Amino acid sequence: MNYRHAFHAGNAADVMKHAALARILLHLARKDTPFRVLDTHAGAGLYDLGGAAAQRTGEAEAGIERLLDADLPAPAAALLAPYLDAVRRLRAERGPRFYPGSPVLALALSRPQDRFLFCELNREEKAKLERNAADGRAKILSQDGYQAVRAHLPPRERRGLVLIDPPFEEPGEFARLTGALEEAHARFAQGMAMAWYPIKDLRAVDAFRRDVARLRMPKTLKIEFDFAEVRAQDTLSGSGLIVVNPPFTLQEEMRTLLTAIAPLLARDGKGRVRVAWLVGEPGAI
Ligand SMILES: C[S@@+](CC[C@H](N)C(=O)[O-])C[C@H]1O[C@@H](n2cnc3c(N)ncnc32)[C@H](O)[C@@H]1O
Repeated sequence: MNYRHAFHAGNAADVMKHAALARILLHLARKDTPFRVLDTHAGAGLYDLGGAAAQRTGEAEAGIERLLDADLPAPAAALLAPYLDAVRRLRAERGPRFYPGSPVLALALSRPQDRFLFCELNREEKAKLERNAADGRAKILSQDGYQAVRAHLPPRERRGLVLIDPPFEEPGEFARLTGALEEAHARFAQGMAMAWYPIKDLRAVDAFRRDVARLRMPKTLKIEFDFAEVRAQDTLSGSGLIVVNPPFTLQEEMRTLLTAIAPLLARDGKGRVRVAWLVGEPGAI
């Protein structure tokens, strides 16, 4: 396990994933009843974009930093405001170059009654997460995130989100991701699940989409953003999200906000956005 999210924190893929996470949490928070978030691959929770790792790749400069400075069309700005305001608040508290990982962002956008389970297998990352996400609402486990899907679903609250965001450094991750989505849905059919995947090897991505569609989960949304031309199989050209049981507004929200930010974040100044149903709407795939 060599992956360290600090090299990639705040990049275009993180921005897309965290923007979707924020929209989903806002939707969950519309009802007073508590919800739970299971974040299976949580990371360190907080990243210093001025630190050596982030500076080595410079990825955040073309991601969150560009977005925070941008003058966006009003509808996209309104949809992104809760996420970007959470980043600004965190910077005011912790320092001007800090960026939240999914656990800290989830805590920031939730209420006192909500609960969180964060899994992180890497010892050093987990120790950082314990400091960064120290909050009475959260439990932090050094459990395999895929096992956690089997062990901790359904949550007592019977509503919430499973976020599955693996590092894709070992072969077989697409198959494990498909299995985890199936398992999460079997155990927690009314819950939402969001899985992140890299767009790199297009054949593998095609097969993954087909395998997910074959699970016949009732509503499955695909959100994809290419931030570079697809050139070689070993270069990341974009990133994708599968969302099971998304809020009914998520499709339009993500289309609006990604279409506005794609030209800013894409290396070719254009970017391509695809938001469509894999399952759930007639004629989708
Ligand atoms: C892509 S990063 C997570 C980023 C985080 N979700 C965010 O958005 O800020 C993936 C993390 O999963 C951890 N990890 C790898 N394999 C794991 C496993 N089987 N179970 C739990 N954590 C794992 C890695 O150490 C790494 O910190």
